[in-house]
Amino acid sequence: MSKPLDPQKKPPKQQDDMLRRLSAGVVHEIKNPLTAIDSLIQLLEKRMDDPAQKKLARTILSEIQRLNHFLAEFLQYSKTPELTLKTINIRTLIENALTFSIDPGIDSKIKVQIDIPDTIPAVLVDPAAFHQVLLNVFNNATQAMNSKGVLQIQARFSKNHLNIQIRDSGPGIPPEQLDRIFEPYFSTKRGGTGLGLAISQQIITRHRGKIYFKRNKDQGMTLFIELPQKQNQSSTSTNNP
Ligand SMILES: Nc1ncnc2c1ncn2[C@@H]1O[C@H](COP(=O)(O)OP(=O)(O)OP(=O)(O)O)[C@@H](O)[C@H]1O
Ligand SMILES: [Mg+2]
Repeated sequence: MSKPLDPQKKPPKQQDDMLRRLSAGVVHEIKNPLTAIDSLIQLLEKRMDDPAQKKLARTILSEIQRLNHFLAEFLQYSKTPELTLKTINIRTLIENALTFSIDPGIDSKIKVQIDIPDTIPAVLVDPAAFHQVLLNVFNNATQAMNSKGVLQIQARFSKNHLNIQIRDSGPGIPPEQLDRIFEPYFSTKRGGTGLGLAISQQIITRHRGKIYFKRNKDQGMTLFIELPQKQNQSSTSTNNP
């Protein structure tokens, strides 16, 4: 006998859409008053003379900034946008993301080595989404290395796959944490949202690719990204990421 239909029970896709709309609504409702609080505290801070009070106001402002960062990542994680694929030059995309992640003032002790053959074919990806992945993983690597060490980035094209390796010389990820780091909200950092890798995995999965870590033999971690590409894909690339 077939089970009676439960009108309350929505199919997963509908549930997903509902959850996404709900999340977007909640973020919106929090963001507006938060922006107002931020402006008002800034105004108050300017009018304060007492250094102790000013310090308190700045602490509130940095907590607001943390909340804003969380809301932006939460929204990104819950909305899973459609991909807009474009043919791009992967080297340009990587170099561009590095300029956002590596601050020459703070990270001057990070040696960046890029190993990408000039002959690498153009690839079909969503440039904005892929930029977001690269930012997340470069930020994680520089944070793990505490702004000093070697960051090696290698890209190769083989058997209809783009393979990227991002190797850092940080302390590595303890084995007991390795299967948790892609979980949403798993973070070992103060102020970390723990959504960076979850978002990155979501984006790579939507490109039908894989993303995973391996421990280096000496020190640090290597992050692998494998993206399938269609056969006979265009071999010319635009320089616009
Ligand atoms: N290259 C790395 N070396 C060592 N640990 C790493 C590395 N990359 C990620 N991790 C670990 O994985 C955790 C999850 O990373 P994820 O990017 O998802 O969140 P986060 O960096 O903590 O916060 P945010 O959401 O702000 O990026 C980190 O807190 C850290 O413990
Ligand atoms: Mg991160």
